[in-house]
Amino acid sequence: MRALAVYNVKGGVGKTSVSVNLAWLAAREGRRALLWDLDPQGAASFLFRVDGPGKGAGKRLVRGKWELSDLLRGTDFPGLDLIPADSSYRKLDLALAEAGRPARRLADLIAPLVAGYDFLFFDCPPSLSVLAEAVFALSDALLVPTVPTPLSLRALEQLAVHLSDKKREHLQVLPFLSMVDRRKRIHRSSEWIRQRSPFPILGAEIPYLSHIEEMGLRRAPVPVYAPASPGARAYGELWEEVRGRL
Ligand SMILES: Nc1ncnc2c1ncn2[C@@H]1O[C@H](COP(=O)(O)OP(=O)(O)O)[C@@H](O)[C@H]1O
Ligand SMILES: [Mg+2]
Repeated sequence: MRALAVYNVKGGVGKTSVSVNLAWLAAREGRRALLWDLDPQGAASFLFRVDGPGKGAGKRLVRGKWELSDLLRGTDFPGLDLIPADSSYRKLDLALAEAGRPARRLADLIAPLVAGYDFLFFDCPPSLSVLAEAVFALSDALLVPTVPTPLSLRALEQLAVHLSDKKREHLQVLPFLSMVDRRKRIHRSSEWIRQRSPFPILGAEIPYLSHIEEMGLRRAPVPVYAPASPGARAYGELWEEVRGRL
């Protein structure tokens, strides 16, 4: 199983949208995909129409009262399962910190599920927390949706410093341009960010499109309700490129 964390310290950059679409694309190819929604906002769970795990889930998981498989849910799509989140995940971070050895604990939680899946996607909350650290330790790649603005470049630079301090050489960092709005000049010519980024930025880009934003209304991955759309094509190209790197 390959583990892919979708991460950015910034919120609202397209993490959940890309997690949902790539996990769906993996499953459509006949791979077994698991998406773990780690964000207390539970947006990925909402998009797949799956209810949250219920009160105390974060703490119970970390303390070994619940197993991860207790939380495992199917989706409407064959081959694609979900571990949902809700506000109880606010405590996950604290519980992991209190328990000690957070990466070990997270690895132990996942271990029984590893044989059942080809890909595990983590839809991460936007913070550089104990949880994020543990996810980095367990992941093969970090997919970083990056809106082409100067502050996003700064976030990539900070991530590079952070990862080199923590000696995370095993982790492939794969930024890609997200929510690219062709009406904006710095979005149109993205060479400046490609040249200055501390990590090579993938070639595939996700444009800013209203039919992608509609995902919140449709509550399904883009290719399900708009199979021939530019958004569906962009996620397809991104998945192909990411899969080639794993
Ligand atoms: N490529 C896109 N084009 C238009 N809207 C988008 C795009 N990607 C995400 N959105 C919208 O932007 C908001 C934030 O996206 P989301 O994927 O939830 O980001 P994050 O998980 O990083 O907070 C959501 O309302 C989502 O529908
Ligand atoms: Mg999100």
